[in-house]
Amino acid sequence: MNRPTGPQRNCLAIVLAAGEGTRMRSSKPKVLHGIGGRTLIAHVLTAALEAGGAGIAIVVGPRREDVAAEARKVAPQAQIFEQTERLGTAHAVLSARPAIEAGADDILVMFADTPLVRPRTLSQLRTALSDGAAVAVLGFRPKDAAGYGRLVMNGNDLVAIREEKDATADERRIGFCNGGLMALSGQHALAILDKIGNANAKREYYLTDAVAIAREMGLKAVAIETAEDDVRGINTKAQLAETEAVLQGRLRTQAMEAGVTLVAPETVFLSSDTKLGKDVTIEPNVVFGPGVTVEDGATIRAFSHLEGAHVGRGARVGPFARLRPGAELGTDVHIGNFVEVKASTIEAGAKANHLAYIGDARVGEGANIGAGTITCNYDGVDKHHTDIGKGAFIGTNSSLVAPVTIGDGAYIGSGSVVTEDVPADALVVERSEQVTKAGWAARFRAAKAARKKKS
Ligand code: UD1
Ligand code: MG
Repeated sequence: MNRPTGPQRNCLAIVLAAGEGTRMRSSKPKVLHGIGGRTLIAHVLTAALEAGGAGIAIVVGPRREDVAAEARKVAPQAQIFEQTERLGTAHAVLSARPAIEAGADDILVMFADTPLVRPRTLSQLRTALSDGAAVAVLGFRPKDAAGYGRLVMNGNDLVAIREEKDATADERRIGFCNGGLMALSGQHALAILDKIGNANAKREYYLTDAVAIAREMGLKAVAIETAEDDVRGINTKAQLAETEAVLQGRLRTQAMEAGVTLVAPETVFLSSDTKLGKDVTIEPNVVFGPGVTVEDGATIRAFSHLEGAHVGRGARVGPFARLRPGAELGTDVHIGNFVEVKASTIEAGAKANHLAYIGDARVGEGANIGAGTITCNYDGVDKHHTDIGKGAFIGTNSSLVAPVTIGDGAYIGSGSVVTEDVPADALVVERSEQVTKAGWAARFRAAKAARKKKS
């Protein structure tokens, strides 16, 4: 029988998201802003879940139902707690007291505005607890330490964390800083947290006091050093953009390591959930919104925008193509320049090479969609389906007025407005008879020239 391979100790992740985020200058709560196609809080919760945080408690500000709803989307099991007054990080953690009382071996305290923390960094904190520490803190060495809590060390032992406002001049010279995230032994967490007071410069209950208190109780505290990116916090729109850039760098590297060819990586924007197969080539200036999968050997040509789409093996998309949610492209499909596909299945080998809109449709295997073809899927109130059969040929500039079905192998003459179903292998021609007048153009020009001479 298979035995569980994960850590034997269970874990509660407490995610602090009660900040006001005023420096974002936004009507939207800070943690609902996004990078890599995912909200900040979703990034943090995903990392917590990957690090084995089966229990999740989220501390939100008063009446933040929107934050709670987003959190539940990622972690449906999350318990939500309201911090009614913002009295400091320890006070915020204690807002989740019932979750702590339920008992967990490891407690991770995470900040919802620190989205780049990697699951393996969280695992390192947990390992420190299983090795006997009661408190494990993430330390880093920023270029500029201003504003951060300083880690006061004695050899390998963490003695205290001093917030900048409370630090002596000597302590301020310490370059080793508190990244903010912390792991607490579940066995001691409440005893430690309940001893934290607010006798400090900001009159706040500092979570960071947990270190000195644990030591007074005869328990061990340690600091784990990590890269600055792991603990990069977001307070402003500029920091949001910087963090996005770091994340994009990580995602591009991961893609290339997995065998994807990025011709100009710095111009390709990925989402955290973008899935790219082997031997996929991405040309410059391509944007992947959330929910895109590209199968092996497909090529996404320059200046294409994809979101919620699935691209089959060997398919070719772009340049300048747009795949919107629900676009399902089969093997070897070609979607060319200025073609938009939404909520449609394009079956194997079908082609729409130029200037078309395919929405709410099925395009059968090997069908050809001519330039200027539009599925008229919207009547102003409702959306309707278009079904195009296998091997059908849709001539240029055709309007397919949905709901409508074009049978297998049918042939639609260019410029048709198709409002009725077309049987398999039929031809539709829908235009007035062509009038051709021999020599007319030459006579027209001669008459014009004669008139000009006279005047
Ligand atoms: C905190 C640390 C500091 C560390 C820094 C790293 C404390 C006391 N200090 O300082 O040592 O160097 O992070 O960035 O922990 N929050 C609440 N409720 C509150 C207060 C805060 O939910 O009452 C949340 C905030 O939304 C934020 C997080 O806790 O996500 C941290 O709070 P913040 O005010 O940013 O702490 P810092 O002063 O940056
Ligand atoms: Mg902060």
